[in-house]
Amino acid sequence: MSYREKVQKAKEFIINRIRQRPEAAVVLGSGLGAFAGSIQEKVEIPYEEIPGWPSSTAPGHLGKLVSGIFGSTPVIVMQGRHHYYEGYSLPDVVFPVRVFGEMKIPYYFATNASGGISHSLSPGDLVLIYDHINFQGHNPLRGGNEDEWGPRFPDMTYAYDRKLIELTESAASSLNMQVKRGVYAAFTGPSFETPAEIRMLRILGADVVGMSTVPEVIAARHMGMKICVISCVANYAAGMTEAPLTHEEVLKEMDKASGRLVGLLQAVILRLRNAGS
Ligand code: HPA
Repeated sequence: MSYREKVQKAKEFIINRIRQRPEAAVVLGSGLGAFAGSIQEKVEIPYEEIPGWPSSTAPGHLGKLVSGIFGSTPVIVMQGRHHYYEGYSLPDVVFPVRVFGEMKIPYYFATNASGGISHSLSPGDLVLIYDHINFQGHNPLRGGNEDEWGPRFPDMTYAYDRKLIELTESAASSLNMQVKRGVYAAFTGPSFETPAEIRMLRILGADVVGMSTVPEVIAARHMGMKICVISCVANYAAGMTEAPLTHEEVLKEMDKASGRLVGLLQAVILRLRNAGS
């Protein structure tokens, strides 16, 4: 079976299980399961039930899809994403995005945890990603192009949808919440970066660094989805303080920030309908 046939099979399976066609796909990073709690008319599908769908292994990540209504907007939420560092191939990492694209879901929202590189960022800050630097050394579009999905050479100038950034900023200001804009650099992990790598990234114009999201954004953009990524700074990037970095610290900060991040996502999704973007 071809990759596209696998994607289509997963799509059929999901469509047969859920009640409404989702308008937005939401991918929740480390420690952000709370969003799914506010969804009505929920249908939950464990990843292992979906044919072809990679299973999830990272600690702090649940492995299921949750579909239902948020406010008045039908959504589908991925609780737990697939990281390249777990050993998945990039086609596996972006498999869910391909399925969402085949489902013709117009909006792709993702949250993630990051290390703050910019001196103006502190742990707990929310950063709207407006551009990225792909330092993973690979591209999920490598190989034959599926012309039905998108062009061979897709534009990345506007990978992060400008209207969605503005919508998120206005949602944040209505919540009296501060958000910043930033450039996300993706390394593969799973080791954290070295202090020298962080100095390099700062010189190159990165504001935050993480180990996820960029392959999915490239695949979603390839399929013409409108993308919005909100990153939560979990720690000062390596070498910026004396403290060594730990995953426990990341999870602790994400837990503290999750209420705000989930509130912001909810406010944005509630505004999608009115925005008509
Ligand atoms: N580096 C990479 N990924 C991360 C970090 C970091 O400092 N913090 C949270 N995710």
